[in-house]
Amino acid sequence: MRLDKYLSGMGAGTRTEIKKAVKAGLVTVDGAVAKDPGMQVGEDSAVTYRGEPVVYEEFVYYMMNKPAGVISASDDSREETVVDLIDEQKRKDLFPAGRLDRDTEGLLLITNDGALAHRLLSPKHHVDKRYYAEVSGTVTEDDVQAFADGLILPDGLECLPAKLEILRAADDDEEVSSDESVPDNETAPDGSVHDDEALATSEVEVVIQEGKFHQIKRMFAARGMEVLYLKRLTMGPLILDDTLEPGEYRRLTEKELQSLKEL
Ligand code: URA
Repeated sequence: MRLDKYLSGMGAGTRTEIKKAVKAGLVTVDGAVAKDPGMQVGEDSAVTYRGEPVVYEEFVYYMMNKPAGVISASDDSREETVVDLIDEQKRKDLFPAGRLDRDTEGLLLITNDGALAHRLLSPKHHVDKRYYAEVSGTVTEDDVQAFADGLILPDGLECLPAKLEILRAADDDEEVSSDESVPDNETAPDGSVHDDEALATSEVEVVIQEGKFHQIKRMFAARGMEVLYLKRLTMGPLILDDTLEPGEYRRLTEKELQSLKEL
């Protein structure tokens, strides 16, 4: 391919910037200063740009812990996107493989590998996705059974069987029952408002095999509950690295990439 295409594809700059850099003698190929931005280079060529090596990679893969408040898109004229958060020298063809709602946190794969993303997201493949959620109200064994049977949402959508695991049901919430002396909606001596409805939240994990719009929120809504916090923990074999703070990302390891390719 052309040298300027190679460098712009790797995110070194625009074609115009690269042409200027070549003219200024700032690009080398296999140890020699390049003279022509149109010269042919290959994946094995040793290219440097402004003194830094630029290694050719056809595909790149980032694991991100998506923070709340950004949208799962490549670029947007008004809103910050997950791709905007990648601040290293970045290529132009990155996109998030799948969507999380703006207020959802957690595991997101950002790549330029369309074929791999397609395999991961295709409804045919039924790739499991595990989420941690905090929901209003008390999750019961009836809910667990309804998720396992496959919910039918009010709009008629038939969900595939999902695994719901109760980590903490609202009834176990000590805060809710800790101060029975204060009637509901009155202020306790410590300043807190005793309001069972407001405090009653359950913690759960849910595994779904599909990824329809707002799916988990709609599933809980169908059971009369609201999702207050949602975080994706896994996608197929990929597990969110718990050292990543919201907004942080890293490249996938070879092992992680291999596990995705074997899907
Ligand atoms: N289900 C939802 O409701 N929202 C998400 O972001 C992901 C799954």
